[in-house]
Amino acid sequence: MQSEDNRRKVFIKTYGCQMNVYDSQRLGDLLEGEDYTMTSSMEEADCILLNTCHIREKATEKLYSDLGRVRVMCEENPQTTIIVGVIGCTAQAEGEEIIRRSPLVSLVVGPQTYHRLPQILKEVEKGEKVVAIDYTVKAKFSNLPTKKVKRQHGVSAFLTIQEGCDKFCTFCVVPYTRGAEVSRTVDQIVHEAERLADAGVSEITLLGQNVNGWHGKGADGSEWRLGALLFRLAEVKGLRRLRYTTSHPRNMDNTLIAAHRDLSILMPYLHLPVQAGSDRILHAMNRRHTVSDYLRLVERIRTARPDIALSGDFIVGFPGETDADFEKTLKLADEVFYASAYSFKYSSRPGTPGTSMAGQVDRYIMDERLQRLQALLNEQQRQFLRSKVGTVTDILLEKTGRHEGQMIGRSPWLTPVAVQTRASVGTVVNVVIQKAMRNSFIGTHDGK
Ligand code: SAH
Ligand code: SF4
Ligand code: F3S
Repeated sequence: MQSEDNRRKVFIKTYGCQMNVYDSQRLGDLLEGEDYTMTSSMEEADCILLNTCHIREKATEKLYSDLGRVRVMCEENPQTTIIVGVIGCTAQAEGEEIIRRSPLVSLVVGPQTYHRLPQILKEVEKGEKVVAIDYTVKAKFSNLPTKKVKRQHGVSAFLTIQEGCDKFCTFCVVPYTRGAEVSRTVDQIVHEAERLADAGVSEITLLGQNVNGWHGKGADGSEWRLGALLFRLAEVKGLRRLRYTTSHPRNMDNTLIAAHRDLSILMPYLHLPVQAGSDRILHAMNRRHTVSDYLRLVERIRTARPDIALSGDFIVGFPGETDADFEKTLKLADEVFYASAYSFKYSSRPGTPGTSMAGQVDRYIMDERLQRLQALLNEQQRQFLRSKVGTVTDILLEKTGRHEGQMIGRSPWLTPVAVQTRASVGTVVNVVIQKAMRNSFIGTHDGK
């Protein structure tokens, strides 16, 4: 291994979802074990990797505008050779096209091929251009290091348990960029959770594009689903909190709902995207559930865990969506009452069935619908946060705040909380919520 000073510096920029955040961390671990060192400054990097997202057109455009900036930086420093690589979901979807549009890029590597990056970087250093976008998720998981390099984790960490998607919603690129659903084994997951807990992690968020589609053979020889896995992970010493995201309404089974009822370590917060409130549109989206299926499910979950906060995703302006369909989306949101939610204008993605459907909706109609939906969802969020003022809530302290003696933590519902306290990072403290801000709380601890 070269000395610290001679090691080549890699800068990774991460776009998109938590899965990409997790991948970038694992990639950092891998490269640190291979004569590279990570840097948080693009300007001082010898190698720039852009870990991309392809979910909406804007996400993809961001890649090309950033590549423009990198090109200017390279032109201003012609004496240095910087390796520029595009990895992640846009890499998988566009492959060689990226090098064609942006010749300074010398490697394009899809999410299932990261374990080959050290080798690929060597080839690129010799002057080759490499495009690697095959699907071999199993190899990826068994070859990305989990033990070799011990990196500094914070209090809260992600753990990918499942990758890919077989659901093929007609608007979505994920089944094409991440491939078919693959679950990691119980042993791999428990092992990684134990390693994280040993390293001081208090909270683990299990990740998957369809996290509740996860399945694997349990210690008892039977086929486990996510609920059983959560019961097992609740036994890992040192962990204080478990979460999972993103779940599909079709995969919320009884054991998973029972886990919400029985496990206090499982936080009372659930991201359960619905996308739309009209059965006709849900059918066209290939969601394969109806509005009443979803509402009944919400009721079952709330019966099991009455204090659960729900969050969701919505798309407005899917092809064929009429005013009446959209009104049904507002009605559904009104009935469910979301503690937080994400809403998007439909973005037509190349290669998905939605692109060629009749009834594409005008942009200005989408704008107006999005505004109305967001006004409702913002109001719900405001009411949810206000309903907690005056209550005593468990807060996991994650880092020191900007002010003297201040700490920033998170509520069970993921809300950031600022609190004056002498307690240390990683502990859970009882905080009185004094004030609700737009997306956060201010609280007091120890009577302060
Ligand atoms: N696997 C998750 C979501 C992955 S993408 C699930 O099934 O819930 C995250 C969110 O992006 C989706 O829930 C959807 O609301 C939004 N999204 C996906 N494709 C989109 C598109 N083409 N246009 C607009 N929003 C989209
Ligand atoms: Fe995309 Fe649907 Fe799969 Fe979620 S379930 S990743 S929205 S195809
Ligand atoms: Fe984006 Fe890929 Fe995640 S498309 S949302 S980074 S799975």
